Amino acid sequence: MAPTSLPGTTDRRLASLLTLFANNATIAISGARIAKEIGVSRSTVWRWVERLREVGVRVKGRPNTGYFLERVPDRLTPDLLRQQLKGSMFGKRIHHFFRTDSTNRVAMELGYTNEPEGAVVIAEEQTAGRGRAGRNWHSERATGIYATLLLRPKISPVQAPLLTMMAGLSAHAAIQAQTGLQPDLKWPNDLMLNGKKLGGILTEMHAEPTVVRFVIVGIGINVNQEKFPAELSAIATSLRAETGRGQSRLELLARLLREFETDYNRFLRDGSGSVTERFTQVSSYASGKKVRVTNGKETYIGVTAGLRPEGLLQIRREDGALVTVLAGDVTETR
Ligand code: BTN
Repeated sequence: MAPTSLPGTTDRRLASLLTLFANNATIAISGARIAKEIGVSRSTVWRWVERLREVGVRVKGRPNTGYFLERVPDRLTPDLLRQQLKGSMFGKRIHHFFRTDSTNRVAMELGYTNEPEGAVVIAEEQTAGRGRAGRNWHSERATGIYATLLLRPKISPVQAPLLTMMAGLSAHAAIQAQTGLQPDLKWPNDLMLNGKKLGGILTEMHAEPTVVRFVIVGIGINVNQEKFPAELSAIATSLRAETGRGQSRLELLARLLREFETDYNRFLRDGSGSVTERFTQVSSYASGKKVRVTNGKETYIGVTAGLRPEGLLQIRREDGALVTVLAGDVTETR
């Protein structure tokens, strides 16, 4: 079944044009050949080339000389991603936007309209990217990964936060495989490198008291950002900043989705321990870290003391009490 065409998603033929260019990078292709291969008129080809240019794809050339790309664009269009995701549950229904408000907002709508499990919503740019606690997620065009996965797991709502931690583990593994870097995981949803934020996960769900209808897992990773807005520059980083070179978002997203699928199947089969045990190994925040916890009501200091089976973080407070963090910000302190 072909994915439903959502308002604003990238026209399939426009995506085909980009794939054609990507597969023939640096070779000039005549407008006439493009028109024939995609099945549109030459004037349509010209208009679409202009649209690709508007969304930042550097297409060189003119109708009479032929068009070409200076280099393969790192765009996450369905065709390019699908080539890397053969046989994966996430390779079947990919909804791509050059620009949307929030991939979580789109995925939530898909969830309510019976879209099957495994759908992926991807944007090159978000105009209202959502972060945790009502914050905004900075989503500069074609530099980061902004993706949301739709899941329909047969779990109870209390287990859903484990999917956030699991997504962090999948992202950790994908980043390590591609770059050799080992991000830390700050409970529950932050990917950190050298004390700065590299990425975050925002899970939202629709559930009845005892059963989950669907869960959406939104993943944001700073990949090729060279600079951030002033208010973020001291607290955010990107893979490019940390490795000193640009990284393929396409490759990283494909790895991430494959890791996620493996982790998700393991979680459904083996339960929460498959997540909490790995999280405890990978995250320096799981135990023995002095932290400040801030929630709507209070702020306190303590030392992290392991995870509960449902993934909640325990803290040994300064007054000796062992408490469980249900919500709030946990930050390292001295
Ligand atoms: C956080 O605050 O750390 C969570 C950030 C989550 C950002 C991602 S980007 C893709 C998806 N769509 C959104 O609007 N948010 C998430």
